Amino acid sequence: MTQMNKQIIMKTRPVGMPILDNFEIKESPIPEIRHGEVLIKILWLSLDPYMRGRMSSAKSYAASLNEGDVIVGGAVGRVIETKSPDYDKDDIVEGFTLGWQEYAIANPSSIRKVDPSLAPIQTAVGVLGMPGMTAFFGLLHVGKPIPGDTVVVSAASGAVGQLVGQIAKIGGCKVVGIAGGKEKCTFLTDTLNFDAAIDYKNENIDEKLREYCPEGINVYFDNVGGKITDAVINQLANYARVAVCGVISQYNLTEPEPGLRTHRSMLTNQATTEGFLVFQFAQKYHIGMKRMARWIQEGKIKYKEDVVMGLENAPSAFIGLMNGKNFGKLLIKVAE
Ligand SMILES: NC(=O)c1ccc[n+]([C@@H]2O[C@H](COP(=O)([O-])OP(=O)(O)OC[C@H]3O[C@@H](n4cnc5c(N)ncnc54)[C@H](OP(=O)(O)O)[C@@H]3O)[C@@H](O)[C@H]2O)c1
Repeated sequence: MTQMNKQIIMKTRPVGMPILDNFEIKESPIPEIRHGEVLIKILWLSLDPYMRGRMSSAKSYAASLNEGDVIVGGAVGRVIETKSPDYDKDDIVEGFTLGWQEYAIANPSSIRKVDPSLAPIQTAVGVLGMPGMTAFFGLLHVGKPIPGDTVVVSAASGAVGQLVGQIAKIGGCKVVGIAGGKEKCTFLTDTLNFDAAIDYKNENIDEKLREYCPEGINVYFDNVGGKITDAVINQLANYARVAVCGVISQYNLTEPEPGLRTHRSMLTNQATTEGFLVFQFAQKYHIGMKRMARWIQEGKIKYKEDVVMGLENAPSAFIGLMNGKNFGKLLIKVAE
């Protein structure tokens, strides 16, 4: 009997905030794998904000999805059939394009082996995967903190933000996180040991930044853009570095949002702003992963995951991610 594959496709292209009607579940037979390929049973899906960009037709660093395409995204799975000399049955693998489906056929060049003895396998799309590498290299290579610096990070309780703050603490910095809601802020200070947290939904960001960063902000790790970033840019210290990682507050806008003119602050503070994509550090991932794994084993890095059960719940969880409903790295558990 032909084995069927449940997949989630982009039925219609979202305009503004995605809605459930933009997605559809479909079933189709799993094709025979060809020489060199492997068949993977998906165990975990990674839901990430950049995927909103793929659903848009606007020019970006990654190709856009077309209506009817399976949603592309990172996942962890188990090899259940192999015609590749590089992969054995039961190998655990991670791939950036495996997508929202129960089974994926992959070319070995698009996946990597995961060592299950290192940490739970889903960390391969979290702290020991793309978000972890984003935090590690984005902070250390772009933000370039030095001990004693004041580091501010936005979306601070999320997959990337929670790690940025902890790495900055390991490096001897003062860390202020910005997040939505009291629960997230309490987690940052009480569990992750941030020096302070600002609840941007209920507190005055300008006032709180002045209170917590009296000597100005040396490093801003920006995950959100928009009004939060405007407030931070106004309080930079001399020679500040702004690492532009993401602008999630802008991903669902249908019209550009007018913003602050930043150049005066950049000029007078002799500050630097630099956008980065984590892939530019791909050659060095092994260094970042080794270091992060050691920090986890030593108890210096904690990571919070937000696990949603079932492939069919991926669309609603993704919409939640765009609205701040996730608390930590958002994962879908697809199968055991
Ligand atoms: N440059 C790169 O290579 C790279 C790689 C990975 C990720 N990124 C970017 O890094 C950022 C964080 O990604 P992540 O995976 O760690 O996601 P995440 O923080 O786990 O989840 C996104 C969070 O963004 C916050 N948010 C949503 N809408 C917002 C808005 N309008 N204003 C302010 N905050 C808002 C929410 O937290 P609150 O409840 O706190 O609002 C939400 O939980 C994203 O912008 C992503 O695109 C970039």
